[in-house]
Amino acid sequence: MNNFYINTKKVPHRYYLTEEQIPTQFYNMRADMKNKPEPHLNPATMKPVTREDLLPVFPEGLVDQELDDETPYFDIPDEVREVYKMYRPSPLIRAYHLEQVLDTPAKIYFKFEGNNTSGSHKLNSAIVQAYYAKKQGLAGLTTETGAGQWGTALAEACSYFGLPLTVYMVKISYEQKPFRKSVIKTFGAGIVPSPSDTTAIGRLILEKNPGTTGSLGCAISEAVEKAVSTKDYRYSLGSCLNYVLLHQSIIGIESKIAMEEMDEYPDIVIGCAGGGSNLGGLISVFFKDKINGIANPRLIAVEPASCPSFTRGRFAYDFCDTGRITPLAKMYTLGSQFIPSPDHAGGLRYHGMSPILSQLYHDGLLEAVAVNQIDVFSAAQLFAKTETILPAPESAHAIRTAIDEALICKETGEKKTILFGLSGTGYFDMKAYDAYLQNKMVNTNPSDEELQKSFADLPSILA
Ligand SMILES: Cc1ncc(COP(=O)(O)O)c(C=O)c1O
Repeated sequence: MNNFYINTKKVPHRYYLTEEQIPTQFYNMRADMKNKPEPHLNPATMKPVTREDLLPVFPEGLVDQELDDETPYFDIPDEVREVYKMYRPSPLIRAYHLEQVLDTPAKIYFKFEGNNTSGSHKLNSAIVQAYYAKKQGLAGLTTETGAGQWGTALAEACSYFGLPLTVYMVKISYEQKPFRKSVIKTFGAGIVPSPSDTTAIGRLILEKNPGTTGSLGCAISEAVEKAVSTKDYRYSLGSCLNYVLLHQSIIGIESKIAMEEMDEYPDIVIGCAGGGSNLGGLISVFFKDKINGIANPRLIAVEPASCPSFTRGRFAYDFCDTGRITPLAKMYTLGSQFIPSPDHAGGLRYHGMSPILSQLYHDGLLEAVAVNQIDVFSAAQLFAKTETILPAPESAHAIRTAIDEALICKETGEKKTILFGLSGTGYFDMKAYDAYLQNKMVNTNPSDEELQKSFADLPSILA
């Protein structure tokens, strides 16, 4: 900042709700969707998955949430709200300093979900998932992690509830982020770089592609295999699934309460999208207003140009994992065999997308943009320098688009209100920041040929 800045405005820099205002219910977008997401299919029968199909894989309480597209609200268990009190409500922050530097008439707000010890929004769902596993008396959980944020969050939640956890971490992140590993281990979880030789599917992937840096799709295959082959274990997923978006709705609900208390309402709501959970959570109640004709905010997903599921993917049934052992989901996908380049936003390197968000995008209720990583890091640096929070590379995708929208307002003179999700902090991503600062970062986007090759592997009957 070149000039000193004193906030003399009515709206404070940080707006906190009280502990009592932590929502008591999650909101289920599917209940209000006119076109509901297509059901997951069991690849063995090609019929919609049943409760019985899912019970060996996921904790029971979560299976019920996953399959329910009618119930609009689900009570948040008291035990979960109690843990939320350690870091929620999260602050809604007015980015006054960023606005000033951009010289924009737009008002920029962000909901800061990195304000907890796991450093990201992932904890919101991890706590619920560990709670239901514990309630069911399970022996433990397995999971995958890309950037390491989900593994960290679930390790924390499992440690809180005294539940063993094994994390399959995408090999490239395992190597790029040694301290992320240490945090996960500190919370008592086991951690395995994926693909590994600890599972049949991992061995197969390694045999086919020995030098692979891994992907979320591979790590999911391994974690699912481990869970279903270990007595009383279940698998836990940090994004994409309907129940994860349900839990993350707490982000949107709190944001809306805070904005309404300040007599504000967003014209544009922006979030980064990997599997879609933080974005799905942030837009949840704003989508409700939109579908019910109460307001008409633009809802924007931001994805990396290196892994452009929405903007260059197909809307088709596909496997959620590389090993093709999971149910088929109808979603925007780059193909389950697509392995994105080792881009620095590990959490956004997933071939598929939440079926809920995919349906909204297909129906024109959600927009999507793809951004290059160098532009993302320039936005991250500007944000860090003005708002003093070092954003996660994933979250910086949302910042990029928020800045771009604010700059459009500068051109047009429109005083739009922009809300974006700051899903996490980037203090374990310093290799990425270093690469950017040393001008060593490159944009590595897939060619049309690569994508066509990957689409050719989509399940043929349904592609
Ligand atoms: C900080 C952060 N933001 C966003 C994401 C993307 O996930 P989702 O699209 O489920 O919010 C991740 C995933 O690891 C993440 O760590």
